[in-house]
Order: sequence, then C-alpha cells, then structure tokens
Amino acid sequence: MKAALYDRYGAAREVLRVEDVPRPEPGPGQVRVRVQASGVNPTDWKSRSGATPRPIEGFQIPHQDGAGVIDATGEGVDPGRIGQRVWLWFAAAGNRWGTAAQWSVVPEERAVPLPEGASVELGASLGVPAMTAHWCLFADGPLQGKTVLVAGGAGAVGHFAIELAKRAGARVITTVSGPEKAELAAKAGADLVVNYREPGAAGQISSFAGASGVDHVVEVALGANLQLDLAVVRPEARIVCYAAEADNPVLPVRACMNANVVLRFVLLYGVPQEALRQATRDVTAALADGALTELPVTKFPLDEIAAAHEAVESGTVGKVLVIPD
Ligand SMILES: NC(=O)c1ccc[n+]([C@@H]2O[C@H](COP(=O)([O-])OP(=O)(O)OC[C@H]3O[C@@H](n4cnc5c(N)ncnc54)[C@H](OP(=O)(O)O)[C@@H]3O)[C@@H](O)[C@H]2O)c1
Repeated sequence: MKAALYDRYGAAREVLRVEDVPRPEPGPGQVRVRVQASGVNPTDWKSRSGATPRPIEGFQIPHQDGAGVIDATGEGVDPGRIGQRVWLWFAAAGNRWGTAAQWSVVPEERAVPLPEGASVELGASLGVPAMTAHWCLFADGPLQGKTVLVAGGAGAVGHFAIELAKRAGARVITTVSGPEKAELAAKAGADLVVNYREPGAAGQISSFAGASGVDHVVEVALGANLQLDLAVVRPEARIVCYAAEADNPVLPVRACMNANVVLRFVLLYGVPQEALRQATRDVTAALADGALTELPVTKFPLDEIAAAHEAVESGTVGKVLVIPD
C-alpha cells in the first residue's frame, strides 16, 4: 500500500516520504480500515519534528485521526464490522500504522462507527480535537446551566468545545482574534464571541456572564490569558489548560489565591481509558444528533504530506486533511 512515513525526527520536507509498504493485516482485537481521509493535528507534526517525540519502531506512519471503512477484522472481532464506516482516534499512539496511508490497523475500539449523515471530512476531524474538548469540559462533572468560556473558539479543540458545551446545556462565551474566526465561532453556536485583542474583552465577558461569573474555562493559552480568566471567573471556577505556549507562564499565585480558582492540565495521551471510551460514546451520540459540524477543510493528496504538515505548523484556519488516494 502507499503510505507516508518517517524513521527519524526532523523538518517535514526532510523526513517525510511516501513509499510502498506491505499492507498490514489486523491482529487479534484489531480492525483494518481503508482510509478515506486522514486528519492532521499539531501533535502529529510535534511528534514528527521531535518537539514532543514519540517512540519510532522502524518507521512511523503519522496521524492519529482519520475516517474510512473497515475492510478486515482480526481474531476476536465481529466480522460483521466489515463494511462499517468509522472515525479513528489514537491510530498512531503506540502503533506504527497511523492514518497517513491507504490502510490503517488499530484496536477495534479506536474505530468508532460514524453515524449516517456525518461526512468523512468531519469523521477525520474528530479524534484528538473532540476528545480533548470532551475531557477539558467534563472531567469535573456536568455543565448544565453553567457558563463556560472557551478560549480560541475557532481552533479545532475550541470548535468542538463550543459544540459539546452547548449540547450539554451550558452558556458559552468564546474568544477569537478577528472577524473570520468570530464568524466560525458564532456558527459553532457560541452565545457570545469576543475579540480578545480588543480592549474591554474582560468587561464584555463579565457583563454577559452576570453576577455569578464564569464557571469553567477551556484554555489554549494560559500565559496569555490568565489575567483575563482571573478577571471573569467565579470562586471555585475551573481553568482547564490543554496547550503549552512557547514560553512557560509565570504563575501569579496571589491572584490565583484571591480568585480561589482550580487549575487543571490535560494531555489526551494520559486521560483515563474509561474517560476516553465515554468521550467516544458522547461524541458519536452528538454526531448522530447533528450537533457537531465541520470546520473549513484544506485537503492535500498523500504525496503532498509535507505541505499538509507545514500548513498545520503555520496555523491554517480550520482542519487540514490528507487524502490517501
Ligand atoms: N493537551 C492535549 O492533549 C492537546 C490536544 C489537542 C491539541 N493540543 C494543543 O492545543 C493547541 C491547539 O490545538 P488545535 O488543534 O485546536 O489548533 P488550532 O486549530 O490551530 O487552534 C488554535 C487556536 O488557538 C487560538 N489562539 C492562539 N492564541 C490564543 C490566545 N492567546 N487566546 C485565544 N485563542 C488563541 C488560535 O487563533 P488566534 O491565534 O487567531 O487567536 C487558533 O484558533 C496546540 O498547541 C495543540 O498541540 C493539546
């Protein structure tokens, strides 16, 4: 089969190549998926570049996320799954057969039925972003009636955080850097969209949140936004950070104490297994109800995988997908 792969860390154009490799067979408990679209996330280029290295055994086909159709099942897997449309998550976690290839082989629970009506593009956009958003929102319980602030609501994680929070019955405020992103965040269903670069952002958020303040923050840039977050949250609010910035923030301890906040940090690779299973169930139910939508998509053929990685590294708005055929 045709696959993109690397066998050492480095810049996209230096280490990524497209080759023919033997098509993998599914082992016990696994399924093989004919990949129709492969989603690219920041974690994929960070693993490939060595910025956040993950072990390479011989070679690594990159990309955790994807969508396609099951065409073979391993021992112990219901062969009735053959022909099922699925969305894939953690395809390249501890597994060389990521989704940047014509076929991927994964443990069967990482190939989740894609409801009728959900597109391949949406299916390939879900894994890392939607599951991260889910844990950032629900690790500390339900959000019915709460006010949630999603920083960076036009980002992939931010987008699904807005949609999942709305579905859970929260009021959702989000921040963006300009009009194009504001439009995307409003389309995702945010009740209030605020430009964080404009003066008065905290005032706008506070007056919308009302006297009680923001209950829960999903934070993409803790250092840049902590002052804003502390200005708008209520005591006991949770600020959940899922991204590292170039420089580590200095923690203003007294201000955090004054605000009585709880800080939580999230890395999807370490989220408890049962929480990941719950996320796949909730995300699939949301998909079936039409509650999750696509961001704008930029597609690259497999041969142009290096350009696809560069597009993600440079902050392309929306999702970047690689199409294996
Ligand atoms: N911890 C985990 O398990 C986990 C999981 C998924 C992703 N991540 C990390 O999370 C980050 C985002 O991932 P993604 O896939 O959502 O990327 P993305 O689609 O590129 O979105 C990032 C968004 O953050 C916004 N942003 C940047 N600085 C901001 C600020 N100061 N305030 C508000 N918004 C800001 C960006 O827009 P503007 O710059 O225009 O504001 C952009 O819309 C990446 O660093 C990724 O590695 C971590």
